[in-house]
Amino acid sequence: MAMAVWPAVDPVNLHSDTQTRPTPGMRQAIAEAEVGDEQRGLDPTVNALQERVAELLDHEAALFLPTGTMCNQIGIRLHTRPGDQVVLERFSHPAIAEGGGPAAHSGVMIQAIDGEGGMFTGAQVAEATIRPTADRYSPRPRLLCVEQTTNYGGGRVWPIERLREVLGVARERGMRTHLDGARLMNAVVASGASAAEHASGFDTAWIDFTKGLGAPIGACLAGSEGAIEEAWRYKQMMGGALRQAGIAAAAGLYALDNHVERLAEDHENARVLAEEIAQIEGARIDPADVETNIVIFEVDDAPPVVAELLSRGVEMTVFGEGRIRAVTHLDVDRAGVERALEALREVVC
Ligand SMILES: Cc1ncc(COP(=O)(O)O)c(C=O)c1O
Repeated sequence: MAMAVWPAVDPVNLHSDTQTRPTPGMRQAIAEAEVGDEQRGLDPTVNALQERVAELLDHEAALFLPTGTMCNQIGIRLHTRPGDQVVLERFSHPAIAEGGGPAAHSGVMIQAIDGEGGMFTGAQVAEATIRPTADRYSPRPRLLCVEQTTNYGGGRVWPIERLREVLGVARERGMRTHLDGARLMNAVVASGASAAEHASGFDTAWIDFTKGLGAPIGACLAGSEGAIEEAWRYKQMMGGALRQAGIAAAAGLYALDNHVERLAEDHENARVLAEEIAQIEGARIDPADVETNIVIFEVDDAPPVVAELLSRGVEMTVFGEGRIRAVTHLDVDRAGVERALEALREVVC
């Protein structure tokens, strides 16, 4: 892939909220972290982070993992057997961005639901999981996965009542449930409902530290004591068990202390971006769809627009022929948003 060549101004990187670099305060926390052998449960900073996340999500226990992808893969593995069906939204991360992991690691089939903004209804779950009585032929729908917020769906926040609705149907069907909380704290800040309220009723739930929270590594999967004990086995099996991981966990703890409330700034920057894009002739967006830090808008031909923006020091992502995604985060301030808008006005007309 061609490397981006930045012009002589500070770049505005709206590619993703994964682009954040650790702040000076976070680097200091990393430097000062107490560490030990994580695989043997002897890293005090990892242990502290796991306890903190278990409490935050109101689950019995939590497990530190290198990535959110591993949280999803272990979650799916924990709740399914080969041949089972995992029910999720068509553009959810495990369905389209984890390298076929659900099939490779767990031998499961994906039963995709066509959502709106990455969300679906209880009726759609019922429809996707209906089976004739005593059916020996169909794969068993065993697990429902929900993404909060929805990444490819545009950073939308599932209302708590809608979560309850889909969880209720899953429970009636005897299914397990897993919450992908890569951006759960964005949902918390946008909705005012606590992380525990969002995670309530799910068998497993996780948060990522490397998105809006600004850490360089790590995520934490939470669940019952039994589920997390079993998750340790899969962590070891998949090569995710670590050694002095406290240097990474320290960044997670720092992020929870310092980078949650400020997500509101990212949401405000995204709102401004969306409202101004709506004024540009040749670009189309409904600003009301932007609830958190992800802005997806339409143009006639996305690739040349994104290439032109890049030559002006603004990075956005082609999200289909006629769609572009821009994500606000810790490393993009209001001046950066204004510069991105200036460039867009020049390029899209
Ligand atoms: C919704 C969602 N789930 C899971 C992941 C995977 O997280 P990680 O990059 O930590 O593996 C991402 C990453 O972008 C994501 O957006």
